[in-house]
Amino acid sequence: MGVPLTGPAAAELAHDCTAMVDGFATPGPRHLRARRARARQEEALARTVLGVRERPEPELKSSALETLAWHRGQDGNPLDPRTAAVELLNIIRPTVAIAWFATFAAHAMHRWPHQRDLLRSESEKGYAEAFAHEVRRFYPFAPFVGGLAARDLNWRGEDITQGTLVLLDLYGQNHDPALWDHPYRFDPHRFTTGAETLDHLIAQGGGDPAGGHRCPGEDITVTALAVLATELAGLDFAVPDQDLTIPLSRMPTLPRSGFEMSLS
Ligand code: HEM
Repeated sequence: MGVPLTGPAAAELAHDCTAMVDGFATPGPRHLRARRARARQEEALARTVLGVRERPEPELKSSALETLAWHRGQDGNPLDPRTAAVELLNIIRPTVAIAWFATFAAHAMHRWPHQRDLLRSESEKGYAEAFAHEVRRFYPFAPFVGGLAARDLNWRGEDITQGTLVLLDLYGQNHDPALWDHPYRFDPHRFTTGAETLDHLIAQGGGDPAGGHRCPGEDITVTALAVLATELAGLDFAVPDQDLTIPLSRMPTLPRSGFEMSLS
C-alpha cells in the first residue's frame, strides 16, 4: 500500500485490523473494540494522507497510498483526508482477513496431512491455487450476505417486493450437493478440472464484481492464500494438543484454540 510504518505503528495497525475483522457483523464487546480500532486507524491514516500531500504531487503514483492521497473527485478537488483514509482501510483490512483463511489452511493440512505433501511436491501445476479455492469453499467465513431488493422482482417464481431483505446463503451454496460432489469432503482436485466449478463458488459473494457487489479482492485473496499455504506446507512444524473444533455459532469463526504450531 505504501503506508510508511515504524515497528510499533505496524503492530498497532495489525492489531486494530484483526479487531476490525473479528468484530465484523457482531454485537457486543467485539463490535465496540472494532469500532474503536476503526476510528483510531482512520484518524492515523488521514494524517498519513496529509503527510503525502505536503510533498509535491508526483506525475506517476507509485503506491495505493499516493494514488488515493492525490485522487480527485468530480469537483476536481482531492478527497477529504478522512474519506481517503476510509478507502485505504477498505483495502488493508480485508487483506488482513486472509489470515483467517490461512488459519483454516493450516487446519486442513493438519487434518489431512497428505495435503501438505501435495503442496510441497510442486508436481501438480496450479495445485496451491486449487487448494486456496477449496479452503474458501469448505471452511465457514462469511456465512451469508444480505441486501434490500432495489425494485419489485420475481426470482424463479418467487415475488419479491422492493425493500425486502434478501439473504444469499454463501455457506449453503458452497455445500449444496446439487452443485458439489461430496460437498463435505475436502478435495482441492475439484478445482483442477474445469473452470465452471468456479462459477458456483461464492465464498466472497456472487455475480460480477464489475456490475455488482461481489468482492473485487477475490484474485488477491486466492493469490495470497496460495502463497501462504505453500509457505506453511514448507515449514517443519508440530501441532501441540489443543481444541481445533470450529464453533459455527461464532462469526467470523476460527478453531477454538486458533492454530498453535511449534516450529522445530
Ligand atoms: C478473507 C478474504 C475475504 C473475504 C471472505 C471477503 C468477502 C467479501 C464479501 C462477502 C463481500 C460482499 C459481497 C456482496 O455483498 O455480494 C466483499 C466485498 C468487498 N471486498 Fe472482500 N473479501 C475478502 C478479501 C478482500 C480483499 C483482499 C479485498 C481488497 C484488497 C477486498 C475488498 C472488498 C471490497 C472493496 C468490497 C466491497 C465491494 C462492493 O460493495 O462493491 N476483499 N468481500
